Amino acid sequence: MKLGDTIAILGGAGALGSGIASRLAKAGHTVVIGSRDPERAQDTVAQINAAAGAERVSAATYANAAARADIVVVTVPFAAQQEALAIVRPHVVGKLVVDCTVPLKPPKVGLVQLPPEGSAAQIAQAVLGSDVKVASAFHNVGAKLLEGDAPIECDVLVFGDSDEIRASAVALVEAVGLRAVEAGPLANSAAAEALTSVLIQINRRYKAGHAGIRITGLSGDH
Ligand SMILES: NC(=O)c1ccc[n+]([C@@H]2O[C@H](COP(=O)([O-])OP(=O)(O)OC[C@H]3O[C@@H](n4cnc5c(N)ncnc54)[C@H](OP(=O)(O)O)[C@@H]3O)[C@@H](O)[C@H]2O)c1
Repeated sequence: MKLGDTIAILGGAGALGSGIASRLAKAGHTVVIGSRDPERAQDTVAQINAAAGAERVSAATYANAAARADIVVVTVPFAAQQEALAIVRPHVVGKLVVDCTVPLKPPKVGLVQLPPEGSAAQIAQAVLGSDVKVASAFHNVGAKLLEGDAPIECDVLVFGDSDEIRASAVALVEAVGLRAVEAGPLANSAAAEALTSVLIQINRRYKAGHAGIRITGLSGDH
């Protein structure tokens, strides 16, 4: 990922999306928050730009944000995922789309409830089509951890159906300031998506703020 790339974040005024937007803006990247109501997203835009000390973030509709971007990150609720992807589909052909959707079904968010398609990531690829480079990531990072500047210790598992797609998504995760670990094809995203409900249970049981995962046994350069 180059510093000049524009990153659209659909749902970027929400908890996870604004955290990713903020970290990217502080690192010097240009971000467009995709919102159903770009006017309403202006407060978030102003806060992130103030924290970054530069006008690096703006807001637009989902379609316009995706059209302006080189990379599109999807941070909307599972119930809204397919509609959001269908809106941007004409604007993301050939682009990298990093889907962060976890298939949570409120109110039982602490229960693993994977969709019949296998994973939210596979749904994203099916909706967008094979001419879009779909990856998935960020499923196990508590949005609160992305607020502020403190180092984040947990790993981000990255999934995608080719080396090129996974490498591009790894670069995005690293730009956010997290360690990325490639974990196989999109079908494997089910494991990370399921793990989110497990982490929610762990947070409840141990009154932990934001339990995360760390992969051990990797070589020193990782
Ligand atoms: N929060 C976390 O810690 C976390 C961690 C890992 C993964 N995730 C996943 O990331 C995704 C976003 O989570 P979040 O916690 O950031 O959600 P959120 O705070 O509720 O924000 C999601 C954003 O999605 C947009 N949206 C589009 N359609 C919507 C609808 N029908 N109802 C509500 N919002 C809608 C909204 O933005 P506009 O109104 O501006 O369009 C909203 O701000 C989810 O799939 C979640 O499972 C979250």
